[in-house]
Amino acid sequence: MDRQTIGIISGKGGVGKSTIAVNLATIFASSDYDNLLIDGDTSNPSVGLHLGVWQHSNGLQDVLAGKISPEEAVVLHPATGIRVIPSSLNYKREVSMKNLSKVVEGIKTYKCIIIDSPPGLSEEVENIMKACSELVVVTTPDVPSVTSATKIIDLAETHRVGVAGLVVNRILNKKYELHMQEIESLCNARIIAKIPEDSRVPESIAVKIPITMYHPNSPASIALNQLARELSGRRISQPQYAGVGIFGRFINFVKRVLGRV
Ligand SMILES: Nc1ncnc2c1ncn2[C@@H]1O[C@H](COP(=O)(O)OP(=O)(O)O)[C@@H](O)[C@H]1O
Ligand SMILES: [Mg+2]
Repeated sequence: MDRQTIGIISGKGGVGKSTIAVNLATIFASSDYDNLLIDGDTSNPSVGLHLGVWQHSNGLQDVLAGKISPEEAVVLHPATGIRVIPSSLNYKREVSMKNLSKVVEGIKTYKCIIIDSPPGLSEEVENIMKACSELVVVTTPDVPSVTSATKIIDLAETHRVGVAGLVVNRILNKKYELHMQEIESLCNARIIAKIPEDSRVPESIAVKIPITMYHPNSPASIALNQLARELSGRRISQPQYAGVGIFGRFINFVKRVLGRV
């Protein structure tokens, strides 16, 4: 099937995977690139928290356990049009991802599936990799994060899953940061997006509106849009956000309250 299944992975945690996954889904949805977002981080689900759809009792864990079908677990996020299978916050124990490839293969609709993942080199991450047609490796421009990125790239190679490229996030352009060429040469992979540190990212998470919709012209949003175009092979156009409809008015209201306009 001519479908993209993009895994968002990293060696270290807290580098921006969930932010990137949620915003790719937002951009794809608003440019009619039919996609499904899956929260593969069953231990620390955060996609639902980013979108304010955490109340659902059913989640990916129930799909993996065969209790419900993937279709039954899909939640529509009306504000962005994203369709998402969140992970349930109810689960306290780690859930096996062994069935993920089968689950993904069984989903017949959607031109693209985006899978957010936990950090590290665990078996769960390996199972996520195997369910994907390509991987995006996220890192910050520091030695510990890039060192972990090299390990996860090695693991992807072991499983013969292609790395679409590296995303360097939270760039401050400080002297102590690794240079982009250094990161590419350490990882032996191409950088496909450079996302600057942007205070509107945590702000957008706090208000539960993805930054590319909340502040489409902010530096991080511009970089995320470029990433979306790169990954989709330019199958998408520049999304048109906000300013229209009830939700657009709501966003403008929130921005005014926060003094952002
Ligand atoms: N470009 C950015 N600028 C500022 N803060 C960011 C940026 N990207 C991510 N963050 C912050 O980093 C934290 C971790 O992001 P998250 O997407 O949850 O990472 P991960 O999923 O890799 O653990 C969040 O608090 C988020 O607000
Ligand atoms: Mg995360």
